Amino acid sequence: MGFEVDTAFVQPIEHRPKLTILEAGGIPLIDLSVLNSQNSDDPEALSGLITEIEAACQDWGFFQVINHGVSSELRRRIETAQKKFFHLALEEKHKVRRDMVNPLGYYDSENTKNVRDWKEVFDFIIQDETVIPSLGETENQELQVLRNRWPDYPPEFRQACSEYARAVKKLAFKLVELISLSLGLPEKRLNDFFKDNTGFIRLNHYPPCPSPHLALGVGRHKDGGALTVLAQDDVGGLEVKRKTDGEWIRVKPIPDAYIINVGDIIQVWSNEKYESPEHRVVVNSERERFSIPFFLNPAHYLRVKPLEELVDEQNPPKYSEYNWGEFFKSRKNSNFKKLGVENLQISHFKITQQ
Ligand code: OGA
Ligand code: NI
Repeated sequence: MGFEVDTAFVQPIEHRPKLTILEAGGIPLIDLSVLNSQNSDDPEALSGLITEIEAACQDWGFFQVINHGVSSELRRRIETAQKKFFHLALEEKHKVRRDMVNPLGYYDSENTKNVRDWKEVFDFIIQDETVIPSLGETENQELQVLRNRWPDYPPEFRQACSEYARAVKKLAFKLVELISLSLGLPEKRLNDFFKDNTGFIRLNHYPPCPSPHLALGVGRHKDGGALTVLAQDDVGGLEVKRKTDGEWIRVKPIPDAYIINVGDIIQVWSNEKYESPEHRVVVNSERERFSIPFFLNPAHYLRVKPLEELVDEQNPPKYSEYNWGEFFKSRKNSNFKKLGVENLQISHFKITQQ
């Protein structure tokens, strides 16, 4: 089913996992219970939390949260449905397979020629109808409406996904508000950017890999959106590149915790106060692994640029404005078709000083 090691897809040397893996090398763990208790009115407790968020975003762009308010029962339900779905026959999964026009549903390395990653995936959007620029063969500015594809099996799949999405979206917005405060901005300063959001959830399955030193579950990359809220199981394999020395650090699985990372858009909004960290997933030969990232993305029409309050003459904008929908479209297309062009990166919008 497309999971043999194809030598054409062997990762370049720098992508290969190192033999010595550093465990948990200091990735911050943040307790959000202040937000969910009577303490939420305590300004001191809140300002302590904001300081922790600020440090975590500056030093790592990556942190884990506990006591986040998402029920573990909801999480068990989606994890169970996810496992049942990926264990279905390929023929069944192909009934909800993505295509050239609709990027939602199931795919594996077989039907995405450009994907080298050792995984299979199911994507669904978090707003019932999400508008994005057309992904088809059009050169003009047409729009399209995305709709989810739901499988018939397991029957509880759709409900589990929808309820989970609602709960994690709430958490994502709490985090965006904390990040806004940590940048010295009003709590709700960033919220309007997520009206008509293009956020989506990806169910990932990384089967055991017979040659784990030759492949990666996901090659090194930065998340292009605003914020990622990820659930990983107890297998482990996610690694983040430590800013101080470029070392790949394993993100330790903590039961029921969420792993948060800032994406490229927060890097641009904050004018690089916070950087979107590089990360990757290492596979192993014995155990399959499951994970569920929630990608919070703005509306397709949003023009992304450093926030006015955060730039001045001493600190001029480091990025020129770009359109999120076009960025998203280019990522989706290059993911699906073998375009032979470099993936669009925010560094392409970086303003270089003369
Ligand atoms: C991603 C990603 C990490 C994981 O899908 O962008 O980084 O642990 N996933 O699956
Ligand atoms: Ni990622």
